[in-house]
Amino acid sequence: MQPVVEVENVTKRYGPTVALNDVSLHINSGELFALLGPNGAGKTTLVHILCTIHAPDKGTAKVAGIDVVRHPRQARSRIGVVFQDPSLDDRLTVYENLDFHGRIYGVPRAVREERIAEMLALVGLEEVRDRLVRTLSTGMKRRLEIARALVHQPKMLFLDEPTVGLDAQTRHKIWEYIRTLQQRHQLTVLVTTHYIEEVEQCDRVCIIDHGQVLALDTPAALKARYGQERLRVRFKDAGDAAAAAAQYAARVLRHAGDEVDLASEGEAFVEAFLSAHGTRIRALSVESVSLESVFLSLTGREIRDEAAGPRDQLRAFGRRGGEHTA
Ligand SMILES: Nc1ncnc2c1ncn2[C@@H]1O[C@H](COP(=O)(O)OP(=O)(O)OP(=O)(O)O)[C@@H](O)[C@H]1O
Ligand SMILES: [Mg+2]
Repeated sequence: MQPVVEVENVTKRYGPTVALNDVSLHINSGELFALLGPNGAGKTTLVHILCTIHAPDKGTAKVAGIDVVRHPRQARSRIGVVFQDPSLDDRLTVYENLDFHGRIYGVPRAVREERIAEMLALVGLEEVRDRLVRTLSTGMKRRLEIARALVHQPKMLFLDEPTVGLDAQTRHKIWEYIRTLQQRHQLTVLVTTHYIEEVEQCDRVCIIDHGQVLALDTPAALKARYGQERLRVRFKDAGDAAAAAAQYAARVLRHAGDEVDLASEGEAFVEAFLSAHGTRIRALSVESVSLESVFLSLTGREIRDEAAGPRDQLRAFGRRGGEHTA
């Protein structure tokens, strides 16, 4: 079967910044596909190219077999998109926002009404149907944006950081909707995120950094190939921590004060470490292979360090209107 998204050797520059550097990837029909990367990795740029907002400088991109540069209108009719920054008209009601979108996409009135009711039910917003959008919580607005993206029954849904700045409970709900949509409506979904724990539930994950694809596979395959078990040790004395860090220099993942994290590999290593240093240790834990460790071994950085960068905090702040929960 032909992939729903085909990106071939796409490069995009903004002045001196290379936002995407020779990116190629395919997304298969019905897949829940994650684009994972820190701030500035190029995630939004790729989504914007696929949504026909920007054209690539080089390479080609197709959605449902349609070249997005040559036939933008046709491509647009097949995609739904939730942008990273809010784009609802908050002077209109929930229903009016959905209806307006349906009209723009030429959805006939009867179909539109039915579809809007279905989407409002899906994201649990039936009761606020006639409320002005500006009176909704941040989580409700996000859910409304997802509903709006689906009014014209696209084959492909793009969600650019759908959960950024939301509380844990709302994030969980949003993911429930995403999975329901993918499974019940056979949608193909591309989600961008820098919350690494969220991509565990995706079919495949593309890790992108500085505009380049570093790895692309299922979460399990990524962990098997690049993952690293971590031994976290807290010594009674910072001097002992420094000595251990020197002794295991090649394995040190982190060293700060009395704490040392080492690349571990199975029980034998942990036991040997304990018998050599046991009396000097205050606390010890073993962290199994995680996607965090995949990201770290691919980029040399922890994604968490950057996840709450100033841009992120600003965005979350900008969204915060009224209550903060769904
Ligand atoms: N309109 C623009 N003009 C100039 N530079 C831009 C523009 N849009 C993006 N960039 C730059 O291109 C690079 C990629 O940005 P992009 O927004 O695609 O990253 P991202 O992965 O979506 O980041 P974030 O997690 O912060 O949303 C960054 O260096 C960014 O500063
Ligand atoms: Mg972005």
